[in-house]
Amino acid sequence: MITPVILAGGSGTRLWPLSRELYPKQMLCLTNDHTMLQNTLLRLKKLKSIEEPIIVCNEEHRFMAAEQLRQIEVKPFSILLEPVGRNTAPAICVAALQALAHEQDPVLLVLPADHVIENISNFHNAIERGESHAQKGDLVTFGIVPDSPETGYGYIKKGRPMGDVSQAFVLDSFFEKPDLETAQGYMDSGDFCWNSGMFMFKASAIIKELEHFAPGIVKSCRHAMEKGVQDLDFFRLDKDSFAESPSDSIDYAVMEHTQKGVMIPFEAGWNDLGSWNALWKTGIKDDNANVIKGDVLLSDVNNSYFFAESRLVTAVGVDDLVVVETKDAVLVASREKVKNVKALVGKLRDQG
Ligand code: GDD
Ligand code: MG
Repeated sequence: MITPVILAGGSGTRLWPLSRELYPKQMLCLTNDHTMLQNTLLRLKKLKSIEEPIIVCNEEHRFMAAEQLRQIEVKPFSILLEPVGRNTAPAICVAALQALAHEQDPVLLVLPADHVIENISNFHNAIERGESHAQKGDLVTFGIVPDSPETGYGYIKKGRPMGDVSQAFVLDSFFEKPDLETAQGYMDSGDFCWNSGMFMFKASAIIKELEHFAPGIVKSCRHAMEKGVQDLDFFRLDKDSFAESPSDSIDYAVMEHTQKGVMIPFEAGWNDLGSWNALWKTGIKDDNANVIKGDVLLSDVNNSYFFAESRLVTAVGVDDLVVVETKDAVLVASREKVKNVKALVGKLRDQG
């Protein structure tokens, strides 16, 4: 049996002005009529032996998360509320402790709620290939076979093949977000996959590794669980204890150090929609290679992404742009540099 753990706590500043602190990327409909969180759960529906999911999100988003689950008729095992964001290692730690508190030691399938996966059957196949390794106590990480030298992803180096039917490799090492030249070298070597941020391990196995490599996280998370309260459909982690946890990603806290890492590579048309340019790349294009959402009228415009939320948006004679219109803010950027919108959001925050 597999218990999905859905990480839905990121703030998604790279898709400003559509994603905001109150409406982060994973809670938005970006690719179809479902939100990213809903798509993450719907993607699992046809998979055998999937239990009710554990959702980990910020407490400010609790009603939105619960409502989105209800809309697609998914009953959660638990919705864990983080009073503050402490990155993915503490989020995974509390989910594993929650599973173990119910005297179960399920295989956890950790899925970030901000991914697009086009090839669902390859994705299901990868999960099936990973399950036997996870059952044995290994930490499975899913690697995506890269098709470009992306600098917005982490990279995983393959070790020796494990020589079994699962086509798994020993996890050699992990490199977070390299520069373009390094990423190109990784890709050319054929020895690397993108780090998908999806994992599979037994709850007890990840706690054991966290205790070894990041004991401070486990200590704070245990306290946050012990002092936490069940409040209607939600479990509220204790604020002071959780805030004391070091903030770290599971990649840095565990995967970079563990000797139990196994990588399952797969090809899936995968993208984490980390920028507006990613939405242009994955979106359905018109004859001029524009991706258009909402009330938009264009003449002599090419290779651009236009999003209109509340007004008619028009453009003439421009190329390679991102234009996003919302009720209270408009973004105009070059497609190539739009990832720097994060810096703009920082400036806005400083101005209060
Ligand atoms: N619950 C919870 N709490 N979830 C979180 C938190 C948190 O504090 N921080 C991040 N997440 C969730 C995000 O919502 C997202 O689904 C996922 O964890 C990854 O966080 P991102 O902030 O989107 O990370 P990233 O995209 O920059 O990089 C990570 O993911 C890439 C693949 O998508 C890294 O792991 C990269 O190495 C990787 O390639
Ligand atoms: Mg991401």
